[in-house]
Amino acid sequence: MKSDARAGLLLGGVILLFTIVGGYVVTLPWWWKAAAEPEDAEWSVPAKMPPGEQGELVRYGQKLFNETPLYLGPDVADASMRRAGNHLSCQSCHASGGTQRNGFGLVGITRRFPQFNARAGHAITLEDRINGCFERSMNGKALPGNGREMKAYLAYMEWLSTDVPSGTKHMEGQGVPKLAALDRWADPGVGESVYKQSCTKCHGANGLGQKAQDGKAYKYPPVWGPDSFNDGAGMDRVRTAAGYIYANMPNDNPSLTAEQAYDVAAYIDSQDRPHKDRLASDYPNLKLKPFDSPYGPYPDGYSEEQHKYGPFPAL
Ligand code: HEC
Ligand code: HEC
Repeated sequence: MKSDARAGLLLGGVILLFTIVGGYVVTLPWWWKAAAEPEDAEWSVPAKMPPGEQGELVRYGQKLFNETPLYLGPDVADASMRRAGNHLSCQSCHASGGTQRNGFGLVGITRRFPQFNARAGHAITLEDRINGCFERSMNGKALPGNGREMKAYLAYMEWLSTDVPSGTKHMEGQGVPKLAALDRWADPGVGESVYKQSCTKCHGANGLGQKAQDGKAYKYPPVWGPDSFNDGAGMDRVRTAAGYIYANMPNDNPSLTAEQAYDVAAYIDSQDRPHKDRLASDYPNLKLKPFDSPYGPYPDGYSEEQHKYGPFPAL
């Protein structure tokens, strides 16, 4: 009896403490809260290019971004410019020149770099991040840091960020929606029928996409096969691809449920694609490795298959 009373008193004390601390947090001055968690900055695409030389550099960056294979693709005449290993453009995934909300858009991107990167295990620059997409999504090689092409990419992204206040760490519409984890594995078999119904019209039954009329860039990019992103790319993570597909595909009418998006992402990410070497050295601190990374090593006893398809207990 006595110990019950003591426990009751203790509980009462804890509740009182929480009430006081809770009350304090709520009554903090508004500027404190603003400093602690900045509101998301609004998505705003600048209307006009800057004048003069800077404008030229921004326009060049825009072309490199939207029509990558024409300038940096595997079959351009100057061998030193062959940086992309496939014929995707940056905007194959960062739609509409990187201006689209919930589509890995890049408005505000220059405001949040350098930043810590778990995959690298240290802080990286925006140049490093761009080269991450060159080596994985584009299945190619890094751009030299001091060349005109890298400068043009940076200028283009700085221009996309024109209207975003410096210090903004997060944008409304940044990335893609983080879908809630399913309580089952994402099922490639079910995904195949979703794909047949909703995706073949543009990406083809064989997943290889369709080139534009000039035959140089894609009208509809491949989603697997030798000309697609490699197995070290973000899009090869089922949850990342599902969020992207949920918000953006089919491109003319995004209409899948979250479950369909997971299943079709599992289907796409089960197909053959180029392999990136040295993936085992990603995430030097394995505790920071996302559960849904499709390649090991892992810091736990779950199988590679469960890491890839779920169910995702750790999310
Ligand atoms: C196959 C799809 C794909 C292609 C093609 C692609 N990217 Fe990405 N990119 C991604 C994904 C996925 C992410 C986000 C990964 C994550 O953080 O989960 C990303 C992230 C980025 C980021 C960081 C975004 C942020 O909010 O932090 C930059 C910058 C970037 N890409 C630039 C490029 C450039 C430049 C190109 C062309 C050379 C390119 N990407 C091509 C898929 C792609
Ligand atoms: C009406 C044509 C169309 C349909 C249908 C369509 N897509 Fe796409 N898809 C595109 C285009 C165009 C892009 C390039 C990005 C953009 O402009 O939105 C793209 C890009 C992609 C990408 C990223 C780029 C790459 O090559 O990997 C993935 C993944 C993708 N689509 C998956 C799907 C899935 C899954 C479906 C079916 C649920 C689907 N798409 C249906 C047109 C389409």
